[in-house]
Amino acid sequence: MEAADKPKLIVVADAEALAQTAAERVMARIAANPGRIAICLTGGSSPKQLYQLLGSDAYGDKIPWERVHWFIGDERFVPESDPLNNMAIARATFLDRSAPSGHINPIPTAAENPDRSAEAYARALQSFYGGDRLDPARPLFDMVLMGVGPDGHTASLFPGYPAVEETDRWVVGVPKANVAPFVPRVTLTLPALASCREMLFEIAGHDKQAILTRLLNGENLPAIRARSNGETVWLVDRAALPEGIRGGL
Ligand code: 6PG
Repeated sequence: MEAADKPKLIVVADAEALAQTAAERVMARIAANPGRIAICLTGGSSPKQLYQLLGSDAYGDKIPWERVHWFIGDERFVPESDPLNNMAIARATFLDRSAPSGHINPIPTAAENPDRSAEAYARALQSFYGGDRLDPARPLFDMVLMGVGPDGHTASLFPGYPAVEETDRWVVGVPKANVAPFVPRVTLTLPALASCREMLFEIAGHDKQAILTRLLNGENLPAIRARSNGETVWLVDRAALPEGIRGGL
């Protein structure tokens, strides 16, 4: 159990190779499921190149759009028209071009407040899943994409925040972010994110070196506690690797 839970570290040359490797892994997860597919996207800058690839002819033409449903792991509590809105970025970069609109499932930020928004998204996820109890034998998502922030947060699960300890609810409101942008957030919780066949972290660039060093040292930060019940992969480029191990790989 422990060994299976350990993230698998994959090191690639640079951000471009990282996006390509991520795209291949998304395609492999899609190919592995002949039925209905659910992919949970992420925000921030890390997945942008991957989203561009998924929108390109080379990849987009091979995606069975009618069978894929797109969700998002966390959202900034801003209107869809705001440039900070995570799902709006994914839509503009690739989804709106090819995905049936009913298959794009944004976190509803027009709700009264982040808690109401979280409740609505939990209901949407539960209706898609067909139940409100997660069965380890039947994961909610085929794939969950993740990024890591400078403080070790992932999704909008910030270190020391109660949202990280949530064991029951699938989605929660986060009144105040720990890092910029300082807008309230709505985030899936660790158990909901864990319910997937693969959780894929994209960690690229020198800016990520300090936090990756802390994670590799096993610090108990949200990004290290976020694990798939299936496979967890940390996809890392050389610039993000700690000095000490960069030469050794
Ligand atoms: C968000 C994200 C967040 C992100 C990390 C990394 O809404 O900001 O979902 O968890 O993945 O902060 O952000 P970058 O990719 O911009 O470094």
